[in-house]
Amino acid sequence: MTHSPHHGHAYAVPPHDSPTGHAALNKWVNKMAAMCMPDRIHWCDGSQAESERLLADMHAAGKCVKLNPAKRPNSWLFRSDPRDVARVESRTFICSQSREGAGPTNNWEEPTAMRRKLKELFHGAMRGRTMYVVPFCMGPIGSPLAKIGVQVTDSPYVVVSTRIMARMGLAALTALGEKGFFVPCLHSVGAPLAPGQPDVAWPCNPAQTHVVHFPEERSIASFGSGYGGNALLGKKCLALRIASVLARDEGWLAEHMLILGVESPEGEKTYVTAAFPSACGKTNFAMLIPPKAMEGWKVTCIGDDIAWLKPDGQGMLRAINPEAGFFGVAPGTSASTNPNAMAACARDTLFTNVALTGDGDVWWEGMTPEPPARLTDWLGQDWTPGCGRPSAHPNSRFTAPAANCPCVDPAINDPAGVPISAIIFGGRRETDIPLVFQSHNWSHGVYLGATVGSEQTAAATDGKLGVVRRDPMAMLPFCGYHMGDYFRHWMHIHKTLSETPRIFHVNWFRKGADGRFLWSGFGENMRVLRWIVERTHGRAFARETPLGWSPRHRDIDWRGLDYPEAQWDQVMALDRQKLKMGLVLQHEELFLSLSERLPKELIFERELLVARL
Ligand code: GTP
Ligand code: SPV
Ligand code: MN
Repeated sequence: MTHSPHHGHAYAVPPHDSPTGHAALNKWVNKMAAMCMPDRIHWCDGSQAESERLLADMHAAGKCVKLNPAKRPNSWLFRSDPRDVARVESRTFICSQSREGAGPTNNWEEPTAMRRKLKELFHGAMRGRTMYVVPFCMGPIGSPLAKIGVQVTDSPYVVVSTRIMARMGLAALTALGEKGFFVPCLHSVGAPLAPGQPDVAWPCNPAQTHVVHFPEERSIASFGSGYGGNALLGKKCLALRIASVLARDEGWLAEHMLILGVESPEGEKTYVTAAFPSACGKTNFAMLIPPKAMEGWKVTCIGDDIAWLKPDGQGMLRAINPEAGFFGVAPGTSASTNPNAMAACARDTLFTNVALTGDGDVWWEGMTPEPPARLTDWLGQDWTPGCGRPSAHPNSRFTAPAANCPCVDPAINDPAGVPISAIIFGGRRETDIPLVFQSHNWSHGVYLGATVGSEQTAAATDGKLGVVRRDPMAMLPFCGYHMGDYFRHWMHIHKTLSETPRIFHVNWFRKGADGRFLWSGFGENMRVLRWIVERTHGRAFARETPLGWSPRHRDIDWRGLDYPEAQWDQVMALDRQKLKMGLVLQHEELFLSLSERLPKELIFERELLVARL
């Protein structure tokens, strides 16, 4: 196969041994290679040896730091380009055939025009680099809920990360067979090398970053970024944006949710999912350690970011975690806030944009009460405690295998998934929204999810923090189609269930007049979680409020904590006038923007809410 690059001489796709007889896959790989013009092509087998080789090569090329094996075995530190540190929502596109298909909450461009633009961007984009072919399975291999993707990428960082985050390599190819369905995922950092041109530590192309989804074709193309959700295409692009479209068409749900199991002292197991926006505490909640005084209660983790939920033959909603690892926010993670996450990243972990200690370990803000006297910060510069800059980037992350987490649930690889009894929605709200309440029924629950508000994170604002935005079901940046149709789909799913999970709303982030959190959160969230679990079994009491069913002080398990009733009244307080004038108007604004496709149940729910207020 030949192709004429700008430089005049013909390009021939380098010889490569495909390990699969999947004709469509082989054809696609050759086509991508002819366009991207890599020097070499490598099919990834997903082995430990392969990963070690890639890491050693990157290390030799100065692209990562090997951490001290006595402190952090088998672990590496990467420092990204400072312009490539988070998802870029402004450069994320849903290119459905019609603008309507993507809806008003997504960036849209006409697919033919976008394809033309991408063709230019990817033309020769991998010159001087290796194109890795990365087959991966989202979900346990062999699960009827799992989906297969194949990513071609010129980033070895993406390869070693995907090996942690998904079931990557030959096992996925075998599961795919010769005819199976896969989502083609094209990725380049967009930084070709001329002959002899030295590479940089973190190649990327921020000016040209595009993260593009073709929902009808079920394909993904991402250019210019090597970071997280922009580059690990199995994660947000496949497991949320494309999967949400597959789920709509196939009768299931692809959600930005953690999955956890709660075990009672009697050994009763209850599984719960929770959708919180990015950086709002999913990882912490998924790995919660109950207060000691709540003897016998135990939490186990299935996933911390994404859940695929599907009604089984009996009409029970069952969930799998499509991922195999955690890509968790590092700052704030500590032995006191999340010892399970600390254990998960104690070894076999890739760190991105955290600080480096003098003895070859990592550090980030909040890891220990006192910072080390001296660090190398995420930019590679000398850092001392008084210097006025954070040592780790606020969105610095660890990429750690789920198997390393001490509280991992034994069913994490169960192809059938786990039965879900409760669904929790929540956001980061300093004011107005009480700690916890339960919806009256499914459609009210969908209303609660649809109207979630949260103070924004770095990915949405290019760094500015603090603005509240509606983030329906924590899916605003991740829904691959019209948000109104997505709400309809949630309504439809209810009709396919015989057992309806109960729906709740939580807010761990409410502050008092003094600016301090009214709820200490983290492990203490077990008290709220216990109430939620007991409610699903019809055992806990509650009071009706305009927002939903709420626990009174006496309905909560307070063993081991002195939490005065007056403070409870503050964290649960509800100002009817303020909610009516503020909240309901903000809901109205969202609903108006989606009006043509909004399910009528949500209009009725809003009317009922106004009436109750
Ligand atoms: P993504 O991985 O970006 O999808 O987000 P995530 O929801 O997994 O984020 P993560 O769990 O890493 O959220 C971290 C932030 O939530 C930090 O600022 C924590 O301090 C904060 N956080 C987590 N749990 C609690 C809690 O119970 N109370 C309070 N006040 N803050 C919390
Ligand atoms: C999020 O932003 O919700 C994440 C991190 O989970 S990333 O994978 O970079 O999108
Ligand atoms: Mn996330």
